[in-house]
Amino acid sequence: MFILDQELCIQCGTCAEECPNGCLKIEDDTVKHDPTRCMWCGHCLAVCPRDAIMIDGDGYNVEDVEEFQFFKKSTPDMVRRDIMMRRSVRHFNDTPVTDDEINRIIEAAKYAPTAKNCQHNALMIKNDPEEIAELRKDLFEQLGEIGKGMMRDKPDVAAFFLMKCSEFENEGKDGLFYDAPLVIGVFSDSDVDGSLCAAYMGQVIESLGLGFTYLLLPTPAMNTPQLREKYNIPEDRKCVIFLTIGNYDAEYFCSVPRKDVPLL
Ligand SMILES: Cc1cc2nc3c(=O)[nH]c(=O)nc-3n(C[C@H](O)[C@H](O)[C@H](O)COP(=O)(O)O)c2cc1C
Repeated sequence: MFILDQELCIQCGTCAEECPNGCLKIEDDTVKHDPTRCMWCGHCLAVCPRDAIMIDGDGYNVEDVEEFQFFKKSTPDMVRRDIMMRRSVRHFNDTPVTDDEINRIIEAAKYAPTAKNCQHNALMIKNDPEEIAELRKDLFEQLGEIGKGMMRDKPDVAAFFLMKCSEFENEGKDGLFYDAPLVIGVFSDSDVDGSLCAAYMGQVIESLGLGFTYLLLPTPAMNTPQLREKYNIPEDRKCVIFLTIGNYDAEYFCSVPRKDVPLL
């Protein structure tokens, strides 16, 4: 719900100018809001110099709004270092990820941008070792079935899937989650929204000093009817990506070489 504090509002029009959908206008000395065009992005309240606008209810919580000092943003050199020194971590130690760390990661998902601000991303969070083990076993089972079904059309992919399954069955090797203490699945109706959500979580994970790897391998298995039903995945969402997360001991001393991005 859009709430305007008439006493605080000075009808400066900043909110109307900022609104990407043109759903605000000044009329009869007050701000008029058209909820049918609103995507609830909150820009209006973020630019209001008098703190006269609020969005509350229907899943939004007015208490969430915080003031930040923009001059404290990370510097370009800090961001560059973070991007270049991030590595996919596949070896985790026994230290569990704390509840506070998990909550911070979930918060990053909440604030990740979504097309039209639809906020259709959902998370599966697993940090109980038994639950992770069950999920892993289920995923390997489905991956094996998918692999067998692909042998004719995509023999290379099939061989890779079946090799991973065989390593798990015969050697107990976890080539899906790498024995991480925390696994997060991102579910969405949009690959783009889901991937951005994962990337935002990734930034926070790194900032917490934890390591992670994005995982596509488990997604076809997670999207099978069997596992969708077992894990109560809503019809309008599919698994876009997983992240496997934990503390790690490795040190990376330098960045790695990469090809230049072609400029089109
Ligand atoms: C979309 C995506 C999916 C990935 N899926 C997997 C995966 O299923 N298993 C895995 O071990 N690594 C996976 N990776 C990690 C890549 O292998 C890794 O990012 C790449 O080798 C470059 O290494 P770096 O992340 O350390 O720079 C994935 C990465 C991305 C971006």
